[in-house]
Amino acid sequence: MMPQRLRLGVNIDHVATIRNARGGDHPDPVRAAEIVAACGGDGITAHLREDRRHIRDEDLARIQAATSLPLNLEMAATDEMLAIALRHKPHAACIVPERREERTTEGGLDAAGQHNRLYPMVQRLLDAGIRVSLFIAPDERQIEAAMRLHAPVVELHTGEYAHASGEARAAELKRLADMAALAAKNGIEPHAGHGLTYDNVQPVAAIPQLAELNIGHYLIGEAIFCGLEPAVLKMRELMDAAR
Ligand code: PXP
Repeated sequence: MMPQRLRLGVNIDHVATIRNARGGDHPDPVRAAEIVAACGGDGITAHLREDRRHIRDEDLARIQAATSLPLNLEMAATDEMLAIALRHKPHAACIVPERREERTTEGGLDAAGQHNRLYPMVQRLLDAGIRVSLFIAPDERQIEAAMRLHAPVVELHTGEYAHASGEARAAELKRLADMAALAAKNGIEPHAGHGLTYDNVQPVAAIPQLAELNIGHYLIGEAIFCGLEPAVLKMRELMDAAR
């Protein structure tokens, strides 16, 4: 099978984290989105959290106005976020689990256990022309649940893989590869993300069915030392070399 080009979505949340540390308007995540667009990134990902700790409501429209790159809005499955998504109509909405006290999105969405709550939400987003993605653990039950929810996309959580080492990492990689293949076989486009770095991205990027990686924290951290454009270009190069 000839692998398709792997898209790179850049999560710019943590530019806003630094901005918010001082309460002003610098550094502006919109400028980050413009740089990502100018250096060949394929999309912008932003997570509007319930507590607005990084991206804020007004950032969404500003990001959408500043670049023509597709915006992937990460959102919790709440009525508030649904209304915001329907108002802004991002290219994609990635439904993520969200717990107020967590530092980052720690686990996958329980699409299997929450079918009845998620179903109407997914349908309303799809009816509005928004491509729905479910951020799930690489687990067969969750892929089957995504099929029942008619989600066109799943994003496989790579956190377990990123944090494991040795044999455990190899086992996590196999789970990612198997679930990407299962999703694709059932007509769902598989994406992946969370905790990806220059050091661990290539085995994931080599999974042929994956269509997109979403990467944030590491790229923004690297950007502090070398600039956002070189960081994005280096990640792009590593991804391309792995295919
Ligand atoms: N994909 C999803 C659905 C996420 O929630 C996150 C973290 O916000 C990412 C990708 C990016 O993860 P990281 O910041 O660890 O690269």
